[in-house]
Amino acid sequence: MTGVAQTMDAAALARAAGAHLDLVRAPFTLPRSRLLVFAAGAGGRRAVPVDPAAPIEGVRVCTAEYERRLDDCEVFREIRVLDAAGAPLPVTDIQPQLIEFGGGAVTLSFAGPAALSIGLRGDGPVLVELHGPRGDASAPVQRIPLTGAAASVGLEIAPDRSASIAVADAKRHREHAETSERLWLDWFANTPRVRPDLQGMTAFCWWVLGANIVELPALGNARAVVPSKIGYVGLWQWDAYFIAVGLSHGDPELAREQLQLAFRFPSADGQLPDVVHEEGILATSDDLPPADRETLRRAGSSIADPGSPVPLTKPPLAAWALRKVMNATPGDDEWARALLPTIARSQDWWFAVSDLDGDGMPEYGHPYSSGLDDSPIFDGPLPTTAPDLGAYLVLQDAELARLAEHFGVADPSVAETHRARSAATLAKLLELWDEDAGFFRARAAGEPVGSYAVVSLLPLLTGAMPDPVLDCMLAALDDEQLFGTPWGVPTVAVDDPDFSPERMWRGPVWININTLLVEGLRASGQPERARDLAERTVALVTHGGGPHEYFNPYTGEKAETATTAFGWSAALFIELAVQLSA
Ligand code: GLC
Repeated sequence: MTGVAQTMDAAALARAAGAHLDLVRAPFTLPRSRLLVFAAGAGGRRAVPVDPAAPIEGVRVCTAEYERRLDDCEVFREIRVLDAAGAPLPVTDIQPQLIEFGGGAVTLSFAGPAALSIGLRGDGPVLVELHGPRGDASAPVQRIPLTGAAASVGLEIAPDRSASIAVADAKRHREHAETSERLWLDWFANTPRVRPDLQGMTAFCWWVLGANIVELPALGNARAVVPSKIGYVGLWQWDAYFIAVGLSHGDPELAREQLQLAFRFPSADGQLPDVVHEEGILATSDDLPPADRETLRRAGSSIADPGSPVPLTKPPLAAWALRKVMNATPGDDEWARALLPTIARSQDWWFAVSDLDGDGMPEYGHPYSSGLDDSPIFDGPLPTTAPDLGAYLVLQDAELARLAEHFGVADPSVAETHRARSAATLAKLLELWDEDAGFFRARAAGEPVGSYAVVSLLPLLTGAMPDPVLDCMLAALDDEQLFGTPWGVPTVAVDDPDFSPERMWRGPVWININTLLVEGLRASGQPERARDLAERTVALVTHGGGPHEYFNPYTGEKAETATTAFGWSAALFIELAVQLSA
């Protein structure tokens, strides 16, 4: 909680969030639901409104499923509402709890997580037209008249995406609408309080976190806040950390659940999985979905078809996340004590299993384990010795030492061992400093990597950079030819031949990296710079129109291939907004 008074009530916050719901970048959905309602024709990673001013005359319904494209998850290609003369009633308002057609003559809302209800507000009559899924030519168009006692229609969607259709009265529809409204108002009542200029976007980001909740039936209906219901329907390991940090400011219980889920399936040797999803976990290259493998093959990656399975995980920031979530509810941290051994074992795993050349400094055995999938530092042979990994490991051992002391671990050698390993890893990390080039250089199978990527700046997180090194890093952040773009911080230096302003981890700005740099600047004794970068990061999200997956560093707009309503961008916007409001 910050010292800022909340001037907006839950209804006002819901309206502020609703202003961003365009059914293209932000679909209509409900916490725990797998159903997504888009404008007809929209939906999918690349969808952008052709003409955002054009009226929406029909909606499309899809389900959100692990590693399955929206086009393969279509329930209704189009639902239209026609007036008595047969003219379509366009969408005239979208709020978190309802979509309004024809100025309110008809509304659509959820009727529980797996059903929609469409109903008349006035007398009608109207006709609801349901067009079956794309590719199913045999599915007839169904026309349901709404009038009199038959004033609403319920659409219940089964797990196989088939719909059962039942006509009901106006009262039934009103009850569904009221239940949805109550649910969203309860959610918005917990919106973190921030500075007035950041409150509207914070409300939208809080909506994103609620909207991105899915249930995992195989795990007792655990609530996973997924990176995106459009594209990433599962609990990704480091996404869960960032999402938990943002959630902790309004719903600490849900924040803890994310960490508990992320840490629930370590391997026998302590490795945490890359992804927890409805059908299991993704922990080695053998678990990769076929489409993913195909993408790696197309990119010419040597790792597309490894001889033996390669472990897949995500960066060791678990203790960092645990500490942040603990800080949100001081004094109540027994839940965290229970997670500590799993985190400590995952840290040991890096040194025992992923120090692939046995020199005391672990490597990434697969680009996915870094979270920066297509960064140019992985263009050469694997494994990759990377300055970001070194920095995370230094940080995590230092944090594990503090946590061991905080929880009164009886054996003092536990904290000492973590501290000693942190110091030893820092020494190895400093060996990656390239004096001539003036940056931390990654190594591919032991050989220096040419690319200068943002991973070279993450050693700031250790707060232990020697002065001349720190000066070089700060200068790089300011230099227009390196990381000083109009909207920063790009993920590859501008003068690097591999820089591209639109390609995923090869140039665009990512909110998690900016947040880590904010933390790194603060840890390195640069509070003004930290604050300035935090301000520029929240300004970027506001300018770009929402918490997208990644941004073009020149225009500050969503990169074309980036997904929208992205979990960690929303969560970390909130984290930075809370910091800036203290
Ligand atoms: C992409 C990102 C990775 C992230 C995942 C889920 O693969 O590169 O860092 O964890 O998406 O958001």
